[in-house]
Amino acid sequence: MNFDEHIDRRNTHSSKWDMMEPLFGISPDDGLSMWVADMDFRPPQAVQDKLAEVIKHGVYGYFGDDGPYLDAIQWWMKNRHSWNVPRDGIFTTHGLVNGTAMCVDTFTAPGDGVVLFTPVYYQFSEKIRANNREVIELPLINNNGRYEMDFEVYDAGLPAHARMIILCSPHNPGGRVWSRKELEQVAAFAKRHDLILVSDEIHHDLTFGVKHTPMALIEDISDRLIMMTASTKTFNIAGSHTGNVIISDLELRAQFSKRMQALGLSPNAFGMHMAAAAYSPAGAQWVDELMSYIDGNRKIFDAGINAIPGVKSMDLDSTYLAWVDFSGTGMPLDQVIIRVQKQAKIATNLGPTFGTGGESFLRFNLGTTRKNVERAVANMQIAFADLQ
Ligand SMILES: Cc1ncc(COP(=O)(O)O)c(C=O)c1O
Repeated sequence: MNFDEHIDRRNTHSSKWDMMEPLFGISPDDGLSMWVADMDFRPPQAVQDKLAEVIKHGVYGYFGDDGPYLDAIQWWMKNRHSWNVPRDGIFTTHGLVNGTAMCVDTFTAPGDGVVLFTPVYYQFSEKIRANNREVIELPLINNNGRYEMDFEVYDAGLPAHARMIILCSPHNPGGRVWSRKELEQVAAFAKRHDLILVSDEIHHDLTFGVKHTPMALIEDISDRLIMMTASTKTFNIAGSHTGNVIISDLELRAQFSKRMQALGLSPNAFGMHMAAAAYSPAGAQWVDELMSYIDGNRKIFDAGINAIPGVKSMDLDSTYLAWVDFSGTGMPLDQVIIRVQKQAKIATNLGPTFGTGGESFLRFNLGTTRKNVERAVANMQIAFADLQ
């Protein structure tokens, strides 16, 4: 796989590139798109071949016989994550934003509180609020550029109407792969406060040599645990909007199944074909190559960005999303944003949308060519040259 190949995504209905002008006022012709989390790479050849086969056949009817799709998920989770997935507990949703909304809708009631460790992926709070539930923010501790949890503080401050936690594991935007001990603490916290625990593990394949532990491997939590996984982030096929909500507990499974039926949710054939092809030995090799390329990107990005006085990119255990703290510059974030957007011409995600703790941050997507990363660093150094 040649990750260095420049693939022009302009005028392809790419959210990342074709929406940067309307959303950020930055032209894709001379700007760099580093916001929404998809990558500028083609997926593994096995995925391309499968789609080519489907398109060659040319009849696009309803999908049936999902055995090979379920086999592929089970194979992947067992081989890559040492996790035996219960086959009957796999639900296929319209991606994991949909999966999140479905969990909130199924397992909580309007007015209930849903706990987030912030800053965290902004769609969680959006979906909680859109479903008329309340976001309960438990801020992570930024310990020298590394997020940690403080359960003494969380135990003391948790409101009585909390019903659910949504954990992002690995963590977007901080890139933390939570340790087994931290996961045990989250599980114990969920039990202490009688909360349903939803673990969004969409970034679990995108690690830099740090071992991710699925929450499903933590003992004595399965009766309140909902796992969420997807092939879309790993293999850059997010447009297929296909994700998995995986539930061991029979009662929770029945509740979820009933809600899926009520809403008429059923999977998309293209997404299932792609996921089944991706979760394969060829897919595994592709991910390993991808992560070694992204590792190179993040090293170049971090070295160049951290050379700007007052700017610090968090050390990532995982994800291709750099989380950059501008607090040391002493500039308010709106001034930083003007420089990044108008001078460096880079579209990024804005830290405050990730909740408490994100106030001084921007998130840069490094899932692009090395050349683009080098350009981004050079542009940023010029935009902040007066600080040097
Ligand atoms: C933690 C997390 N969950 C879910 C998603 C999106 O999931 P989907 O595209 O399946 O809706 C993202 C995308 O960046 C994410 O970071």
